[in-house]
Amino acid sequence: MSKEPSKPQTLSPKDFQQDTLAIRGGYTRSHEHEHSEALFLTSSYVFDSAEMAAKYFSNELQGNVYSRYTNPTVRTFEERLAAMEEGEQCVATASGMAATLSVVMALLQAGDHILCSQDVFGSTRVMLNNYIVKFGVQVSYVGLTDLAAWQAAIRPNTKMLFCETPSNPMSEVADLEALAAIAKQAKALFVVDNCFCTPVLQKPLRFGADIVVHSATKYLDGQGRCLGGAVVGSAELMDKVVGFLRAAGPTMSPFNAWVFIKGLETLRIRMQAHCANAMALAEWLESHDKVTKVYYAGLEGHRGHGLAKKQQSGFGGVLSFCVKGGREQAWKVIDSVEMLSRTANLGDTKTTIVHPATTTHGRLSAEDREAAGIGENLIRIAVGLEDFIDIKNDLARGLDLI
Ligand SMILES: Cc1ncc(COP(=O)(O)O)c(C=O)c1O
Repeated sequence: MSKEPSKPQTLSPKDFQQDTLAIRGGYTRSHEHEHSEALFLTSSYVFDSAEMAAKYFSNELQGNVYSRYTNPTVRTFEERLAAMEEGEQCVATASGMAATLSVVMALLQAGDHILCSQDVFGSTRVMLNNYIVKFGVQVSYVGLTDLAAWQAAIRPNTKMLFCETPSNPMSEVADLEALAAIAKQAKALFVVDNCFCTPVLQKPLRFGADIVVHSATKYLDGQGRCLGGAVVGSAELMDKVVGFLRAAGPTMSPFNAWVFIKGLETLRIRMQAHCANAMALAEWLESHDKVTKVYYAGLEGHRGHGLAKKQQSGFGGVLSFCVKGGREQAWKVIDSVEMLSRTANLGDTKTTIVHPATTTHGRLSAEDREAAGIGENLIRIAVGLEDFIDIKNDLARGLDLI
């Protein structure tokens, strides 16, 4: 059996188009000549001698020491996603929340201020409000689309602007270029959670963001199997994030990295299919007499439509809508579906349905929910890849009952 090293690869990411990077980026075949990427399920690595161990530990030689620091499978995921986001470097984390935590812990310190959009993911708010403030970092919030409010909320100690676009569940769209300019003027870092779009639909670094964070748990996996996250940005910033991760430990497991590597390979065609199904569903819901409003930036009537068209190449898979009535009618629709999954997850091949006011956004105060437009009659759908006719028919059954 041949143990010859594989032929060295001479092409770099610059030589490939996006679709190729998603499939072949970041991988060097091992001496086993495998075709699918190898899974290095190991926590540590073996040294040929005490002297070699000393050299690796002192960084005189670069190589694997321990999987909290580096792992070849995790590195493949990192290099592939960095290339897709057009960032210098990517750092993989144990979850999406671990990605945001690592950015904040590595790059902010006591006395700094972080300015965040109001409608970020609920746990992001809980983490900032309940934990990060304990370390002397100030936190305040502004409406995602209100540029004057962002500008006015800048303090002398503002060191980070953070937003998520499009927003969950109202599909509001942030003006990335304008926010990047405000951040630059304030000498603050601009961080964008790109979970809903993925690099296939939006590349925030192109619009001036400094850092992109991901919950890989969503579309990057795409089939609801694994938790993971990622941070992408310049090598200089990512070195600091790596430092926190190595010391504190919220690293990605090699098994999960392997699942995400395979997820990235089909990401573009999955995202296009999510977008197509979501658009068809949004248009059908808009014409339904039991639906009073549909929130999806793909619809021309949505106030974020123009901006989404400018900075995204598709409108994503998540939409929400209001039914005639209140909580009782919304719950009736949710309870009546037979195929759609009643779960808060998103970015899955399976369509999910949820009542934001009592689940994902239930921990917000009533005033904050009202300010975000999240009423009792609002339903969120994360549109999956089933046949559109079956998704529509399942929802129609519930809507007919109210
Ligand atoms: C936009 C967004 N960011 C971050 C997260 C957190 O990711 P994770 O659940 O992987 O920690 C989520 C989870 O739903 C999310 O929707």
